Amino acid sequence: MIKVLFVCLGNICRSPSAEAVFNTLIEKNGLGSELQCDSAGTAAYHAGEPADYRMRLFAKKRGYQLTSISRPFNPKVDFDSFDNIIGMDSQNVRDLKTMARNKTDRKKIFLMTDFCFTDKYDSVPDPYYGSDADFGLVLDILEDACAGLIRKLHQS
Ligand code: 4NP
Repeated sequence: MIKVLFVCLGNICRSPSAEAVFNTLIEKNGLGSELQCDSAGTAAYHAGEPADYRMRLFAKKRGYQLTSISRPFNPKVDFDSFDNIIGMDSQNVRDLKTMARNKTDRKKIFLMTDFCFTDKYDSVPDPYYGSDADFGLVLDILEDACAGLIRKLHQS
């Protein structure tokens, strides 16, 4: 079993969406016995809350149900529990690297857009203060990156 953790700042927009998109692909491809995922935030501002209502709405329009509840990343547990820890933007990756305890932890950290087939984006931009289009863009990038990630992990 390969375990993936998606990480953004608040764990109410991008990483819960990544979790839902990835879970949908796992199900579609019958990979439930190989791959598993969860999500977390580098900040705890929204701990215990469901995903942002705008993100839930835009995800639902594409057939994704966002059910996860926000939780902060816990370096003491999460670096041991997950094989791949994937930040949505370069600040998330920097924050994760700061929390890494050693080289083994650091080697598990990746940037989501590195799995994209397109090279148009180098981050999943934070939509929190953005427009409707920004929420749509998050889902566009995540669908591309999750497909690339599935292909990469399934090959390994
Ligand atoms: P996320 O978006 O990191 O994709 O969940 C944000 C959610 C909340 C805040 C910022 C970004 N905030 O400042 O509260």
